[in-house]
This record gives sequence, structure tokens and C-alpha cells, in this order.
Amino acid sequence: MIVHVPGVLATGPLTSCRQLLQQADWRDGRGTAGFQSALVKNNLQLPADSEQGLQAAALIDQGLARNPLFMSAALPARIFPKLFNVYGEGQSFGLHVDNAIRYAPGATSGIRTDLSATLFLSEPDSYDGGELVIQDTYGEHAVKLPAGDMVLYPAGSLHRVTPVTRGMRLCSFFWIQSMIRDDGQRGLLFDLDGAIQDAGQQLGAGHGVVVRLTATYHNLLRRWAHP
Ligand code: NI
Repeated sequence: MIVHVPGVLATGPLTSCRQLLQQADWRDGRGTAGFQSALVKNNLQLPADSEQGLQAAALIDQGLARNPLFMSAALPARIFPKLFNVYGEGQSFGLHVDNAIRYAPGATSGIRTDLSATLFLSEPDSYDGGELVIQDTYGEHAVKLPAGDMVLYPAGSLHRVTPVTRGMRLCSFFWIQSMIRDDGQRGLLFDLDGAIQDAGQQLGAGHGVVVRLTATYHNLLRRWAHP
């Protein structure tokens, strides 16, 4: 399931994020790549302890916490600290899969990466190339979103970032351990939640059918979730 989550950052926090990141001290992105990824990764990344990065991450956390679409699609149990990268002209990230378990700096237990998230911070017309290309059974999907929007996709999918040929592509990226480990089960819950929201709009949230479907949603969550 690949999900577009619009408006994670509104204009104000987005501008603040960009200003913070412009002042930051960027490093070679291979520092956080696994062995195979390091062979194909060519970008710049913020160190995890960057003060500007931490402040920008706090703005993103606030945006995520008040985004119902993100909550419904990801059903997050644990969210990896936000990372930031920038691709300038000629930079790219070849085909790879993200590590299954990630350790936040200083953490003793890992986060299982069920979902990968990329939050776009540059306006799409400010750079050429730089599409996030995600493979699934239906082929390749090229993703390039408005600044402030985010894509959620299965962390187990092969993906790449095409070379930037003009301008600069600034993004935040991170991983989510979901309460629902299985992508298929999570997709069913997401569809059901969307249908319940629609039914509530048309019938009224207190309608008997909406109440029964809501009970089914929560009983499936009770059955499948590992908070
Ligand atoms: Ni990746």
C-alpha cells in the first residue's frame, strides 16, 4: 500500500523547517546506509544529533500527531527519529531495500521498519529529477509530491531516487513500526476506516450501521494489533 499524506507540514512550519536546515552542517549520506545501500547512495544527510535537525523534527512530529490520515494508514507503534537528506545536481540513490531493523542513536532496542516515509520539503518545480521510485507487483511508481506532503510505502519494497538534474531536493525520511505488522491487514483496516468515515458523513456518526462497523474495526484492531 502506497499512501499519499497531504499537508503534514503547513506553510509556517514548512518555512521554519527549510530555514533551520539551510543553517545545518550536512554530511555524506553513506554514514547511515547499510553495506549494500552504501554502494548506491550518493547524497548529503544531517547527522542525527544536529540541533537544527532536532528542531525541524519536532515540527514534523507535531504535524504527524494531528494528521488523521497518517494515523489511520500507519497505525504507528514506534516512529524512528526523523532524518534529513538533500540531493543536489547529479546525486541519486540506486535501487535498494531499507534495513528491517533500525537502531536510533543510543537506543538499545531496535525499531522494526514496517513502513518507510518520505516527507518532501522542496517544491517540485524547484528541481528536476529526484523522483522516489517504488516497486511493487504492479510495476514502478514514481513519486514527487508538493512540499509538506508525505508518501508512506512498505519498507520491504525495493526503491530508488532518480538523479537530480537541476536544483536541490530536500526531504525528511524515517521509518515506522506499525501496531499492525502485516501490510495486507493494515491495508484492510485503512480501507475500513475510510469507509466508516464516509458512512458517518452520509448517515451520521451515531447511525446504527456506523456504530456496528466501528465495532468491527476496533475488534479487528484488538485481534491484530501489537501496540
Ligand atoms: Ni531507502
